[in-house]
Amino acid sequence: MTLRIAVLPGDGIGPEVTRQAVRVLQATAAGAFQVRCEEFPIGGNAIQQFGQPLPPETLSKCLESDAVLLGAVGGPEYDPLPRAMKPETALLALRKGLGGYANLRPAIAYPALAACSPLRPEVLQGADVLFVRELLGGLYFGEPRGFRDGPPPDARNTMIYSEPEVERVARVAFALAQTRRRKLTSVDKANVLECSQLWRRVVTAVARDYPGVTLEHQLVDSCAMRLVTAPASFDVVVTENLFGDILTDEAAALTGSLGMLPSATLGGAVDLYEPIHGSAPDIAGKGIANPLGAIATVAMLLRHTAKREAEARAIEAAISQVLQAGYRTADLKRGDAERLVGTEQMGDLVLQAMANSRAQSARG
Ligand code: IPM
Ligand code: MN
Repeated sequence: MTLRIAVLPGDGIGPEVTRQAVRVLQATAAGAFQVRCEEFPIGGNAIQQFGQPLPPETLSKCLESDAVLLGAVGGPEYDPLPRAMKPETALLALRKGLGGYANLRPAIAYPALAACSPLRPEVLQGADVLFVRELLGGLYFGEPRGFRDGPPPDARNTMIYSEPEVERVARVAFALAQTRRRKLTSVDKANVLECSQLWRRVVTAVARDYPGVTLEHQLVDSCAMRLVTAPASFDVVVTENLFGDILTDEAAALTGSLGMLPSATLGGAVDLYEPIHGSAPDIAGKGIANPLGAIATVAMLLRHTAKREAEARAIEAAISQVLQAGYRTADLKRGDAERLVGTEQMGDLVLQAMANSRAQSARG
């Protein structure tokens, strides 16, 4: 097997964290299978080199690969650009171009990181939520949209969902719930929005095909509260694009740092993998960014695209071990007992932990 990965390091801390993720991917492959990683520009660096944030070559190379591994895009210097030129627009165009509609965002309360979360340990205990965010519909892509000069100026966005769009993402969520604790929470705003009324109807109909999974519906506002009051009561959560965007940043508080969270986008021509954090321009280039979200993203790639569950678990176990041993990047450091490490050193530690467990299992 040869895994062809298009690597899009992007802007800010993107290149630094992606470098560590690629090291972990290559070390995992060593001896067992081939990986071929090739880098392409996206976002601000693509604007500088090619005058556009998503060069056509980047998209076509991504479409020829088995998976795309993205760092992060954007930065304050690009804020004044018109929408078509913004790095964020490139990311949305890439998502659309690859076609993945189911964005998986796991949020786990690592016991070793309990001090990083503002929530009390007894609230966090056992929290392990898998969000399935619909990624190609809703307000992000609905037409019409735009500004009108007025007077007075106004602006509009359109939330629109069709039955097939809801059904396909619901099926992904139910299938994942079957492999976990068999509970699915569908989040909407059906007391106000027609889109949500359709969402609820379609998810309820799909549930008939998954009798082993318990489905509940929850309104997004009360879900937002329950996430911080009873996070362990969730298993899989499925929701539309914008609700999912907001709730998954909130869920990052369970782990304690945005720098820890991976994501996978499935269902399209090519799967897309990205940590959920942004480009963090304030700390870019300093070698202090947390690469664990990007590294955990590689584990998701191995699980979902390469179908290598054992290797995915080995990476996740190594991350837990390194945290357990007290190593922390700056975003995670709380107490004096913990050891502060940089981006590259954190990558080294994960590789070391993986090598140690391989040696241990070889010894039997
Ligand atoms: C995310 C980000 C993106 C989104 C932005 C950068 C377009 O916030 O991946 O959550 O809103 O989807
Ligand atoms: Mn977001």
